[in-house]
Amino acid sequence: MGQNSQDSFYITTPIYYVNAEPHIGHAYTTIVADVIARFYRLSGFETFFLTGTDEHGDKVVEAAEKSGETVKSYVDRISTIFKETWPKLNIKNDYFVRTTDKSHQDTVSQILSKVYAKGDIYFSSYEGKYCIGCERFYTDTELVQGKCPIHLTEPKIISEENYFFRMSNYQDWLKDYITTHPDFIRPQRYRNEVIAFLREPLEDLCISRPKTRLSWGIPLPFDDNYVTYVWFDALINYISALGYPDGDLFKKFWPVAQHIIAKDILKPHGIFWPCMLKAAGIEPYQHLNVHGYWNVNMGKMSKSLGNIVKPMDLATKYGLDAFRYFLLRDMVFGLDSDFTEESLVKRFNADLANDLGNLVSRSMNMVVKYFDGKLKPPSQFKEEDILLQNASYKVIEEYKNMMKEFTFHKALIVVWELIGRANKYIDTMKPWALAKQDQERLNTVLNTITEVIKIVSVMLWPFMPHTAEKIQHQLGLGMVGVKLPLDSLKKWGETQSVGPISKAPPLFPRVNPVREPKRAPLDIKKLTEQGLQGTKSSGFPSDRGKPEMEEKMKEESGLVSLEDFQRLDIRVGTIKEADTIPGSKKLLRLVVDIGEERTIVAGMAAYYQINELINKQVIVIANLVPVTLMGVESRGMILAAEDEKGVYLLIPDKESTPGSPIK
Ligand code: MSP
Repeated sequence: MGQNSQDSFYITTPIYYVNAEPHIGHAYTTIVADVIARFYRLSGFETFFLTGTDEHGDKVVEAAEKSGETVKSYVDRISTIFKETWPKLNIKNDYFVRTTDKSHQDTVSQILSKVYAKGDIYFSSYEGKYCIGCERFYTDTELVQGKCPIHLTEPKIISEENYFFRMSNYQDWLKDYITTHPDFIRPQRYRNEVIAFLREPLEDLCISRPKTRLSWGIPLPFDDNYVTYVWFDALINYISALGYPDGDLFKKFWPVAQHIIAKDILKPHGIFWPCMLKAAGIEPYQHLNVHGYWNVNMGKMSKSLGNIVKPMDLATKYGLDAFRYFLLRDMVFGLDSDFTEESLVKRFNADLANDLGNLVSRSMNMVVKYFDGKLKPPSQFKEEDILLQNASYKVIEEYKNMMKEFTFHKALIVVWELIGRANKYIDTMKPWALAKQDQERLNTVLNTITEVIKIVSVMLWPFMPHTAEKIQHQLGLGMVGVKLPLDSLKKWGETQSVGPISKAPPLFPRVNPVREPKRAPLDIKKLTEQGLQGTKSSGFPSDRGKPEMEEKMKEESGLVSLEDFQRLDIRVGTIKEADTIPGSKKLLRLVVDIGEERTIVAGMAAYYQINELINKQVIVIANLVPVTLMGVESRGMILAAEDEKGVYLLIPDKESTPGSPIK
């Protein structure tokens, strides 16, 4: 293998502790790594994707003891569960590292010896506050009311003699490095957090544990009475897996290393690890990409609360691709997100069944119906076709940039904008009418549509590989489509079908809405601070140029930005029940199907008869904070126009599926 890193890409996930089985948080990080690895593979990069398990330390020993197994058989069992889960989620890692691997242990010893020889490790006594959950000592300022901020438990006071890594030697270097490399840690908020931390003097890092207290670990090469602190051991996996120092993989991939982690392990990755690398004479990684936490129904996920979301359950219930799509689309990379099955189903029906599914099925059906699946090369393009082509090229460029910046939700938003445009193009071109008048034009229009679908399928492949492959198969592209490098999409119509276009069952048959009774209401204030997870908008201020200025302009002009508008969840609803409310002359209690049933109180008793409302379609704002009116809780608002003569319901032009989004 050559040593040129230019067209190479290396991505890692944290190596997960084997004290618990994989849940949606682990699945998210590993799917993100898979998506970005597939994107780079698709773009022609030689890619290496690493994940694995972290198998040393107190936490793992404690879990093994609880399970009644020997530590070795316990770590083997749980590590296998992780290893076998990833392929089931269509995750294609190139290697799975275990910290109990001999090759990993040898690399750890080698690094320790190197840093020791350099004089950056010393022996000293220490007393500190130690959280077993985090496997680390805490300073008083880091504790919250004396407790670990993550586990909310009081740390143990531990006093012992240990080895220390002179991390303080590297504080100035690290500060300087982060300042001169603005996207070393991204998004910005996490870079700022690390910089803030570095304003305080950095303490040296305790990197050993006496064997008398913990024997399950990698022995220190210079003192057999001690094992290596689990973080010093674990971080080294990122280079041991590449065959540091002489392996070809190391030479090729380390210069382009990118890590993905969640915010919980920012300090070890943003501070310990770069200092360790510097001390060992190794170049720092290229980027640390930090995402937020998945919460469940607005709360933390935990075993004791019994709300752990298991990835395989959801993938089995809704299909793997829908699950992958949901995770990447719903979370703004960098911010926390609230997981609810209800929002998964909403996205499934709106984005996948409606927008994407309909585009593909109606288009393929028309090609089969009008041309028996065989399109001829297009003739003269008209302005509308060229507009759609140009929009597609623009989206490809935006998509590529957003993927490289790890703003996956934005990449998906632009792809969906293109899907929306293609659907509109069909509505405007009316191929069914052309079929009666102009076969040549019909052929060009359908060529334009299938080309957009092809482009969409390629951009979707990293997220939804099965779906993209199915679409490409229907397009008659065989396996050619999957391997298309993104750059070759530059020429309209370059990749011709190798076979006829065919019909197929719907990609995403609609699923029934779920109700989540425990779901907390959407609180606009909180959502705005948090960046609007669970709604359509990205709302990530630090992602968008000059947020303060934008805010100010908005305030002054009274204008509403597109993002403000997209915060609203507006849907078509069908009124199922209508009733008066005792004691009120104005208000009616309505039950409206908006993909799920909602009770809504509306002030229209004076303008509409109850029986004329039943089965009427209306437009509903679905994500307002509930209010109680005359003792009835109203969860939504029905849109109506008002003038001096009365109130008029806004009604869709044609019968639409309840729950269809208004965009
Ligand atoms: N073993 C260490 C990592 C060592 S890396 C050299 C560790 N393991 S862990 O099992 O606790 O995994 C933490 C990581 O799992 C997070 O950084 C994140 O990638 C993922 N997640 C675990 N829970 C999560 C959520 N609730 N939400 C999102 N991701 C989270 O720390």
